[in-house]
Amino acid sequence: MRAIFTVCLLIHALNLSGANGLAAATVDPRATDAAVTAMQHGGNAIDGAVAAGLTLGVVNGYNSGIGGGCFLVIHLANGKTVAIDGREMAPAAARRDMFLHDGKPDTRASKVGALASGVPGALAAYAHALKNHGKLPLKWHLENAAKTAEAGFPLPEAYVRTLKRRAPDLARFKSSASVFLNPTLQPWPAGKLLKQPDLARTYRAIARDGLGWFYGGPFATATEKWMKANGGIMTAEDFRNYQVKLRQPVRTTYRGHTIIGMPPPSSGGVHVGQILNILENFPLHTMEPNSANFIHLTAEAMKLAFADRAHWLGDADFAKVPRGLIDKAYAKQLAARIRRDRAAPVKGHSKPPRAMEDLFNKHTTHFSVADGEGNWVACTATINTHFGSKVVIPGTGVLMNNEMDDFAIAPGVPNAFGLLGAEANAVAPGKRPLSSMSPTIVLKDDQPILAVGAAGGPTIITQTLLAILHMIDFKKPIGEALAQPHFHHQWRPDGIRIERKVGEKVLAELKKRGHQLQIVDRMGATQAVARRNGQLEAAHDPRLKGKAVATPPKQ
Ligand code: GLY
Repeated sequence: MRAIFTVCLLIHALNLSGANGLAAATVDPRATDAAVTAMQHGGNAIDGAVAAGLTLGVVNGYNSGIGGGCFLVIHLANGKTVAIDGREMAPAAARRDMFLHDGKPDTRASKVGALASGVPGALAAYAHALKNHGKLPLKWHLENAAKTAEAGFPLPEAYVRTLKRRAPDLARFKSSASVFLNPTLQPWPAGKLLKQPDLARTYRAIARDGLGWFYGGPFATATEKWMKANGGIMTAEDFRNYQVKLRQPVRTTYRGHTIIGMPPPSSGGVHVGQILNILENFPLHTMEPNSANFIHLTAEAMKLAFADRAHWLGDADFAKVPRGLIDKAYAKQLAARIRRDRAAPVKGHSKPPRAMEDLFNKHTTHFSVADGEGNWVACTATINTHFGSKVVIPGTGVLMNNEMDDFAIAPGVPNAFGLLGAEANAVAPGKRPLSSMSPTIVLKDDQPILAVGAAGGPTIITQTLLAILHMIDFKKPIGEALAQPHFHHQWRPDGIRIERKVGEKVLAELKKRGHQLQIVDRMGATQAVARRNGQLEAAHDPRLKGKAVATPPKQ
């Protein structure tokens, strides 16, 4: 399984000027600085999130951007919670067998090129969040990010490592090669100042003409033209039909805390909640953190949840996704199947209560809320795998996603993350592919104490889970929580992917209990802001060169 990084950013601000303190954490210092600047210029946490999101689309564009999608979970100072779905949508001409040729799956077509993309939703989601909950106009944010695209930035080593791996695919598309590769189609070296004038022009055109430029005008038309010429199916009409959806957040509890997550088409909220529900049946605090006992138990719970994910999960506007997956009694039944001494075989999904009657569904609402102090945002944004479909729409600088690969393109055919899916996640026109993105907010006594999420395909769910466990069960400050060893079980393949730093003794004990192990040097990209003893804290994943800022209130 490859490590795939999406981007997660989390912002919190206590008031509109930052005078009461603010915190931000992203995977890139420029994006964190953009968030802080927005909040110091009259913006609130929602402005901070959008500033970071648009800037990440420039400086970390291989992971996210306006050619992709995002989910935002926002806890407003007035106590309301909002879940904004800016996930990509399959074009109207998409068909469930579109990635089959002579009955055989074409696993490449869902990853690279014209058929790989869904209609992007990130820009619409950011605009919606700002209009309803932010303070600064979208124009202000776009113009700032355009300046960064125009001025350029020196390519970091990590960026170039990824670029090298993806260069052969990028070289297939002239418009992509002209941004990311040199004239002999080789990747630019680390330190090269990458300027993106086309992207800057696109940001400025949207700032000038509004969202219509992207969703109803020149960008939609340019995309249709390129798609038609290259065997794609996405049309300008698909862009006109794109809508941000407001979802009812998933709410569960864990040891006296409220866990608020993203509902379908994300699997994040459901399965972070489900695994926590299973683990609530065990006294984790009596175990050593990172001991074989803790890892075994948690991995077994992950395995049961991911078996359910493969069967039940999909876009709830199209598929029947049972609410019973987060039922406490159901979690107890699953917990009873876990053996302390052995990895138990899990043949397939289980059956939650009221599986056909009580469903996550289409309760989509629109709303307007006044802003005030104490807003928290968790946003995860992505174009899927690195450099998405590898296609830059000519003249626009916009790199398109390959989110169609997050559908189950055929039963039993794993996607880029090795995930299997069923009917619930089959391709259909207008449907949104299943995601693992897990922007999550944790409340204690109705007050936010943590906004967390991660990047890395299905490991997003388990990284988010581990951050919550280390904070709640093992009482770690957020910086320490994110530094703990990561491990991940997704049912199929049947094994634990685990960081070497847990140590030989623990690895040997896990093997003894029957676990297959895939040992990796590092895995993870979790960002979080938290409140502890009344003070704000922020942390970026120590495995990456991100930036986290938490400022105390001004006296
Ligand atoms: N594209 C990765 C995810 O949404 O889970």
